[in-house]
Amino acid sequence: MKKTIRVGLIGTGFMGRTHTNAYRQVGQFFDTPFEIELKAVCSRNAANAERFAQHWGFEGFETDWNRLVKRNDIDLIDIASPNDTHAEIAIAAARAGKVVACEKPLGRNLAESRAMVDAVSAAGVANMVWYNYRRVPALTLVKKLVDQGFFGRVFHYRSKFLQDWTMSADLPQGGAGTWRLDASVAGSGVTGDLLAHCIDAALWLNGSISEVTGTTETFIKERHHAESGRREPVNVDDASAFLARFANGSLATFESTRYARGHKALFTLEINGESGSIAWDLHDLHRLQLFDYRDDGSMRGWRSIHITDGDHPYMDAWWVPGLQIGYEHTFIHQVADFLNGLGDGTVTVPDFKTALETETVIDAVLSSAKSRQWETVAQR
Ligand SMILES: NC(=O)c1ccc[n+]([C@@H]2O[C@H](COP(=O)([O-])OP(=O)(O)OC[C@H]3O[C@@H](n4cnc5c(N)ncnc54)[C@H](O)[C@@H]3O)[C@@H](O)[C@H]2O)c1
Repeated sequence: MKKTIRVGLIGTGFMGRTHTNAYRQVGQFFDTPFEIELKAVCSRNAANAERFAQHWGFEGFETDWNRLVKRNDIDLIDIASPNDTHAEIAIAAARAGKVVACEKPLGRNLAESRAMVDAVSAAGVANMVWYNYRRVPALTLVKKLVDQGFFGRVFHYRSKFLQDWTMSADLPQGGAGTWRLDASVAGSGVTGDLLAHCIDAALWLNGSISEVTGTTETFIKERHHAESGRREPVNVDDASAFLARFANGSLATFESTRYARGHKALFTLEINGESGSIAWDLHDLHRLQLFDYRDDGSMRGWRSIHITDGDHPYMDAWWVPGLQIGYEHTFIHQVADFLNGLGDGTVTVPDFKTALETETVIDAVLSSAKSRQWETVAQR
């Protein structure tokens, strides 16, 4: 007999939809110890919240997250609202004894993120952060290769995340859809938004980063603010690049921008080790490029593995070999892993504590961009 977990979701935007889709699909494809009940969704606008609840099958809705967090008929609070809401909601939810799932980044800055970690650990509640790319089957396979020692000594790690959607000077900052351009809401620009994904994956696949040196740029210095109605300085980084040294001695480059014309979500990563290399690209997320130096010399070369076989991570839950899955499935995998973890009492990573390490790197990169020096990454 499965137990029931009652979900209260905050935010009805992009992530509200991906998470809800995952909650609805997970039980169809994965055998977990829990049935999910979509109890209530929260958005400040009642009409939006009601429409979302009806469309996605939530029993009801709220317009104030405080009410949602205080409800006795909700077990899990899922935070899919902008970054300025994460700390306050997560801390309140932890104090109310709820399981907490939070979108990335944790907080707008290191202080908020640390307070979030303290709150969940003081309350002893289960928690996780939606760094969903860890559950792309190709990347889960890379993690297996890392754990099996496939690469030998690692020399290089290379990652980037490129977009082009903020290049127009007419785009406002602040408000729905453009809150990412307002530092008071987002915390930072591409560093905390896009590079956070690159950093999370890097820490997971290549271990701790010890020091960084970075630089950032804000190309359009003033924008109309959608809420104040005035032209205001832009305080987020439009582009960010940094060099890093990992504790394992490898060197890395990271780059992110929203000004790479033609690129929509070009998240790539590459690892070069003494006995092999891999390269992966989100636009082709079901493929892994792999080079194995141990292959016979005459046959040595890059192979492109189509990650659709039942032997590949998560793929035995899906269709038949040769048929690929996509972006939305990463969230389904994350829910499945989290529910299994709740069932057997194990921590599903990244939990808040794990995700804090990404925040320490983000903080060091932004500090380095100001100081123009190498910065040591803080010990959480
Ligand atoms: N894991 C990923 O790949 C990924 C991708 C995109 C966004 N995100 C993260 O998800 C979060 C949400 O981003 P998004 O793209 O879904 O944003 P969005 O703008 O599409 O949606 C945000 C939602 O939050 C609601 N909201 C705002 N303030 C609120 C409040 N005080 N109370 C209740 N609801 C409130 C808005 O009405 C909207 O429905 C951000 O933290 C972002 O960094 C993660």
